Amino acid sequence: MAKQRVLTGITTTGTPHLGNYVGAIRPAIAESQRGEFDAFFFLADYHALIKSHDPSIVHQSSREIAATWLALGLDTDSSTFYRQSDVPEIAELSWILTCVCAKGLMNRSHAYKAAVQANEQNGDDPDNGVTMGLFSYPILMAADILMFNASKVPVGRDQIQHIEMARDMAQRFNHLYGKTFVLPEAVVDDDVAVLSGLDGRKMSKSYGNTIPLFLPEKKLQKHINKIKTNLLEPGEPKDPADSTVFEIWQAFATAEQTADMRQKFAEGIAWGQAKKDLFDLINTQVAPARERYEAILADSQFLESELKKGAEKARAQAAPMLASVRKAVGLAAFS
Ligand code: TRP
Repeated sequence: MAKQRVLTGITTTGTPHLGNYVGAIRPAIAESQRGEFDAFFFLADYHALIKSHDPSIVHQSSREIAATWLALGLDTDSSTFYRQSDVPEIAELSWILTCVCAKGLMNRSHAYKAAVQANEQNGDDPDNGVTMGLFSYPILMAADILMFNASKVPVGRDQIQHIEMARDMAQRFNHLYGKTFVLPEAVVDDDVAVLSGLDGRKMSKSYGNTIPLFLPEKKLQKHINKIKTNLLEPGEPKDPADSTVFEIWQAFATAEQTADMRQKFAEGIAWGQAKKDLFDLINTQVAPARERYEAILADSQFLESELKKGAEKARAQAAPMLASVRKAVGLAAFS
């Protein structure tokens, strides 16, 4: 039996942080190593252009994210790992889907609505800074998914709406032109930890509260020291449920280590000590991958060849798919 196809994209703006690692990268790589699924992972660099007009950020982020996944042991033979922009068929499919996607559907997109709402709150024109890229972002995402007939799409909660929109577009296309696309489903893993950042809000680049995954040791220690804590003194019992330090500990620790730390919290471990322990725990786990990461970043040829290999595999699927889509809509050769 053919393996089920699972696909997910990573927008290439920003440097991978502990929250990305725990919530998305670690589970995806573990899955690639189990080889149970036919997994497609890609750098969503066309999507990055929606968020950033700074070429150096877009480029550097692609490099860092690619190097991160490779350093952490992604199996690029059993999975397909590529840059979205290396598969131009995706942009073409995106246009064809644009022509079957109702504008009203895009009006309801959370990302677009949030931008409009922020403008209104600031007393600006509702469309201020809203590009057509942002407005039709769910169409490009639908093209990413439908191109490869992915049936499962692992995403965070904020992305569920986009997968539903991709289903809508697939259904609409199938209805108009005959069955062409598989209807994708979002997969949201509730067991995966969502980490808080330095200030206690969700760890996110947009809050500027992240701890990058591959910081040099000293900087990692410094960042961990900045995690917000309460004013309880050494010796005073501390509440694990109300602590970012504990939450991050738990995401890296074994069950036994977590039980240990819980005990230390009850005994009133000093915040300084808890942070030192947390640094040791994380550093021990990431140090070998960090070394590989530095080596891979310095080896552009290796990086490029890995991504080219993935692009070839992806295009081998995308080209016949796009050919049948073109034919279905009437874009065919005359002879
Ligand atoms: N928009 C997604 C995000 O910001 C990234 C993404 C792009 C994606 N294309 C995708 C995720 C296709 C899943 C499937 O997280």
